[in-house]
Parts: sequence; C-alpha cells; structure tokens
Amino acid sequence: MCIASRRPFLSDTIIVGLDIGTAKTCAVIGEYNDAGVLEITGVGTVPSTGLRKGVVVNIEATLQAVAKAIEAAELMSGREVKECFVGVAGANIEGINSRGVVAVTGKNREISREDMTRVIEAARAVVIPMDREVLHVIPQSYIVDDQKGIRNPLDMIGVRLEAEVHIITGSITTAQNLIRCVNRAGFKASGLILQSLAAARAVLNNDEKELGCLLVDLGGGTTDVLMYADGAPYYTTVIGAGGAQVTNDLSIILNVPMEAAERLKKDSGICFLPHVDPEERVIVPGVGGRAPREIPRLEMASVIQSRMEELFMMVKERVESMGYWRHVKGGVILTGGGSQMQGAADLAYKVFGVPVRVGSPASTGGLIEEYRNPVYSTAVGLVQIGAERLIALEGDEPTRKPDKKGKKAKNGGVGRKISDWFKEFF
Ligand SMILES: Nc1ncnc2c1ncn2[C@@H]1O[C@H](COP(=O)(O)OP(=O)(O)OP(=O)(O)O)[C@@H](O)[C@H]1O
Ligand SMILES: [Mg+2]
Repeated sequence: MCIASRRPFLSDTIIVGLDIGTAKTCAVIGEYNDAGVLEITGVGTVPSTGLRKGVVVNIEATLQAVAKAIEAAELMSGREVKECFVGVAGANIEGINSRGVVAVTGKNREISREDMTRVIEAARAVVIPMDREVLHVIPQSYIVDDQKGIRNPLDMIGVRLEAEVHIITGSITTAQNLIRCVNRAGFKASGLILQSLAAARAVLNNDEKELGCLLVDLGGGTTDVLMYADGAPYYTTVIGAGGAQVTNDLSIILNVPMEAAERLKKDSGICFLPHVDPEERVIVPGVGGRAPREIPRLEMASVIQSRMEELFMMVKERVESMGYWRHVKGGVILTGGGSQMQGAADLAYKVFGVPVRVGSPASTGGLIEEYRNPVYSTAVGLVQIGAERLIALEGDEPTRKPDKKGKKAKNGGVGRKISDWFKEFF
C-alpha cells in the first residue's frame, strides 16, 4: 500500500490488528514509515484454546492469549499497544443485501454528502432481531434517478437517490464477549471488523473484486466465505467446519492423538491424490508404547481429500443455493491456515471449476518474508482497514508531535474519533 504524501498524524500512530481465531490468536502492528508507506513492524502469534468455531467460550483462556500475542508483537516492534482493531467471526454472522431511497435535497439538486449519508441510513433501516447488531453497512452501488451502477454519486445532479448496500450482522453477545476479552487483557477495541472482510482487504485484487470472486478462508474451526460482485461484498456465509475436522479425521483413522495428527497433517499432508507418489510412505508415531509404523502417503491423502472436498462442496452448494454462482467469474481465492495444505488449489479447482489461487497478504510494506503467509491474512487486513479508517478521520485530527523527551505519541488519542465514526456507519 503506497500513500503518496507523508502523513504526520499517522506517522506517530500504530495500527494494531487482532485476529482471535479458533486455532491461533495473532496480533499485527502496522506503522507508516517516513515515506508514507504502511509497514508491518510487529507480529505475535500464540495458540488459542478459548474458542469454539470462531466464538469465545472461555474468557480467561482467550484474554491470556490476547495478552501474550500483543506482548510478542510489542516486543518485536518496540511500541506499546493501547487499542486494536478486532476481527469478529462465527456461524452467527449473516449478510443481507438492502436498498434505500431518498429525495435529493441539496442546492440545485446536486447530491451532497448529507444525501449520501441519509440514503445509507435508509438502506440500513431493516428489521433485525433484538439479539443481533449491525457490524457493517457497505455501499455496493448507487442509482441516480434511473441511472444504475454509480460508484460515487457525489455532486451528480438528480432528484432521486437510491443506494444498494450489503449489511453484515452478528450476535451481540458474541461481540460483547470478544470485547470483554480484549478489555480484560488491558486493551481497548477500536472497532470490530468482520474477519473475512479483513482477509479480503489483504489478499484480493481489484480485478477479482470487479469480476466477482469468492474468498474462502480455511480456518481451524470455521470456513468463512465472502463473495464479491461488481467490486463490492454481495454474499457472506460461514461454514461451521475447518482444518480441525481434517485433523480429527486423521486422529481417528490413524489412531493417534490430535497433536500428532496435526503435526502429521502439516508436515506430510496433501489433499490431491493425483499428486501423490504411490510408493511414498509416511511414518505415523507410535502411541502408548507402540512402535511407530509406516503407511502409504496415499492412505493419509485420501482421508484429507475426502474432508476437504466435502468442505469445498458445501461452499459451492451454499453459493449455488442462493443463485449467486454466476457472479464468481474472477475465481476462488483460498486463504487462512488451511489453504497451506499441499494440493488445496488443485482440489478446489476440481470442485469449483473456476481459476483458484492461494492468497497471502501482499501489498503491505515492510512485511518480513515469513509473514507473507495466508495465516496472517486476517490480521494484516485488520491493520489495513484500520489504517484506512484513520486516514478517513485524519482531516479533523490535530497533528500530534513527539513530547519533550522525544518520546513518540501512542495511539490512545484517536479512540474517541474512531468510536464516533463507528457509531455513524459501522
Ligand atoms: N501447513 C499447513 N498445512 C495444512 N494445514 C495447515 C497448515 N498450517 C496450518 N494449517 C491448518 O490451518 C488451521 C488454522 O488456520 P488459521 O490459523 O487460519 O485458523 P484460525 O483463524 O485460528 O481459525 P478460525 O478462522 O476458524 O477461527 C488449522 O486447522 C491448521 O491445522
Ligand atoms: Mg481465521
């Protein structure tokens, strides 16, 4: 991400993304360098034990993981974290498309920012159950009088302004528990951002979004799906199964503990049988005094392939059942830890029948090579979206200078602005 001019306000600010996943909790710190380029300067990752299928089920275990991940990222970057953008996920997430209409009231029927705010407000006025809250309202396109497909209607002349939006809602209690963990770990949540939206920010390119594509985030406990059509999010769904199921299958079939199955999966796992040498064998560790044994790698691959194929089929069926498959012209982009499975893109191509690639965070400066990895897509995307939100606020935030001792200002001051902005739109 390259920003042309230097930004004094953001040059002293750190932007922190916190991805509290089922398998791992990961904190990523981003900072603008003097050239105005967003750089990743700290990353901390620890295993998660307090979540089930993307939802917090153990506050104490989760807050410990949050504290440790942030501490590790702080150590790497040499900066102190006070607040962070937190990813939210889970089977409770739902996305709906909605539309709002208003009359243009500006002088000479010129569409103003106020008109745009009003039309988004009108579009978000849908009835949602009491136990849910709106996480995002994302404009897809505008219609001015009868002219469709307008991206930015500001200053256009018209009588009637319509907006099409994608509204993402989630369970209030799930969000509250997430925020509680962050607060009890000693940090403030600057905002909650849907994890797949963050991953999309980090890995999708504009062509894919314009053509229409499907982002499939293969996590430990869930597989998060986000479909783009005509440049904007159009469909969101979460499948309550992920890489943990693959490990579980291996553990049962090979009769080894989960930890051993996980290690085997990561070291020798492959999910596309045509790529496996029939002669190749893998060593399955012995358990309870039994000697290790050798099995054909093909045997292990067929277990993994069956489960991953089922997962991909579920994704395709969900999208097809909505009648949206025709939008997926730009292909399928796999990300998340599970996308590192050898053969994942080939198997996905067999199921989806459209181009498939594995997406890693790409367009961020200063990202140390080892973190250009699909596991970090969500956390890096949280930093990128967070940075964009701060840039949107920059205009009315005074420049903060280093204090007398030359110590750099921390990111505490932007909290109020952010929360005001969130109240308005997200
Ligand atoms: N090299 C690898 N090969 C195969 N699978 C892998 C590899 N590395 C990680 N995984 C799997 O990826 C999964 C974890 O992915 P990720 O870190 O994206 O999950 P998470 O974000 O913590 O979970 P969720 O998004 O479901 O809450 C685990 O099931 C893990 O076994
Ligand atoms: Mg995840």
